[in-house]
Amino acid sequence: MISVQVKAGKGYRVLIGAGLLKELPARLSEVTGSKHLMLVSDDSVWGLYGEAVRAALTEAGYRTETYVFAHGEASKNLSVYGALLEKMCDAHLTREDPVLALGGGVVGDLAGFAAATYQRGVPLVQLPTTLLAAVDSSVGGKTAVDLPNGKNQVGAFYQPSLVVCDTDTFATLPETEYQNGCAEIIKYGMLSGSEELFRMLEAEPVRNRYEEIVGRCVSIKRDFVEEDEFDRGLRMLLNLGHTVGHGVEACSGYAIPHGQAVAIGMAAIARGTARKGLFDSASAEELVNLIKAYGLPTELPFSKEEIAEKAQSDKKNTTDAMRIIIPERIGTCRIEKIAPAEFTEWF
Ligand SMILES: NC(=O)c1ccc[n+]([C@@H]2O[C@H](COP(=O)([O-])OP(=O)(O)OC[C@H]3O[C@@H](n4cnc5c(N)ncnc54)[C@H](O)[C@@H]3O)[C@@H](O)[C@H]2O)c1
Repeated sequence: MISVQVKAGKGYRVLIGAGLLKELPARLSEVTGSKHLMLVSDDSVWGLYGEAVRAALTEAGYRTETYVFAHGEASKNLSVYGALLEKMCDAHLTREDPVLALGGGVVGDLAGFAAATYQRGVPLVQLPTTLLAAVDSSVGGKTAVDLPNGKNQVGAFYQPSLVVCDTDTFATLPETEYQNGCAEIIKYGMLSGSEELFRMLEAEPVRNRYEEIVGRCVSIKRDFVEEDEFDRGLRMLLNLGHTVGHGVEACSGYAIPHGQAVAIGMAAIARGTARKGLFDSASAEELVNLIKAYGLPTELPFSKEEIAEKAQSDKKNTTDAMRIIIPERIGTCRIEKIAPAEFTEWF
């Protein structure tokens, strides 16, 4: 097992390893004295792991309330969030009683936002079951739900009290979800400050070394979060590939999954930056080849103009300037401030 300590919020540990869900009751008792909790999941994850987790908690003496909603991004909305809060209220959960989020980023973001806001904040435990949630959404404290006109438009920065990532759960991930997670992992390979992770991803597939690779990614994210908990500066580097990616996702009406869109975004920005002579073209090719090796797309599926228009409605961009993340060399990126009119030259 790997344990990563994060100094944000009240401070918490991220535990990563095989079979960790079996140890959940013991781990939970290290962060809360409460014996009453709300276990939140989606119907797919619940069908695979929910009953076993509930049974283990019940056996350990926890009174376990459950809330299970339909899987998919469409559930990350105010009405599912509201129904969860009402269920917590009906169950007379108090400020001491934790919310456990068992699932991918959708469950983590929604349950996290409920934990952040129910009675002005109750303990949150993230139990990520997708690779993406393990390396990204479960760590760092961003919680949110979507509004009809935009993703993650309502939310809060709210750090968990504990993250328990059982890498055995990745065995049941559909191939596309595995690939989506790998896109974010490749992103960390470009942000780690050295070539080591990138070369590791080239040498062997992620699925051969879940514990080590997730541990490395979480440590990289931890460093950014500790430096910039509220996403005002350096944490923006985690958006490598995301500005173009956001445009691609939006142009497709969200039919192209986030991971694939980020992969396209990273490849595009690498090529654009190489064209400008700011990133070595052999390195750009290495990045594109690594993305392809994980079965992810690298070509723009829409025109640059269409992508730019959608990307520029991104909430992270102010009207007179845009910040994009550009690669400098394998393992190192930087924030570049550009005029919105120049954006299409960069990808
Ligand atoms: N908070 C953050 O910092 C942050 C960062 C990145 C992404 N996100 C959010 O995360 C969400 C995407 O997360 P995601 O990719 O995990 O999507 P997801 O939660 O929708 O999970 C993807 C699919 O996989 C299924 N699934 C989950 N675990 C499984 C398992 N072990 N075996 C089989 N099937 C499983 C789910 O039921 C779902 O159908 C988006 O809403 C995004 O905005 C948040």
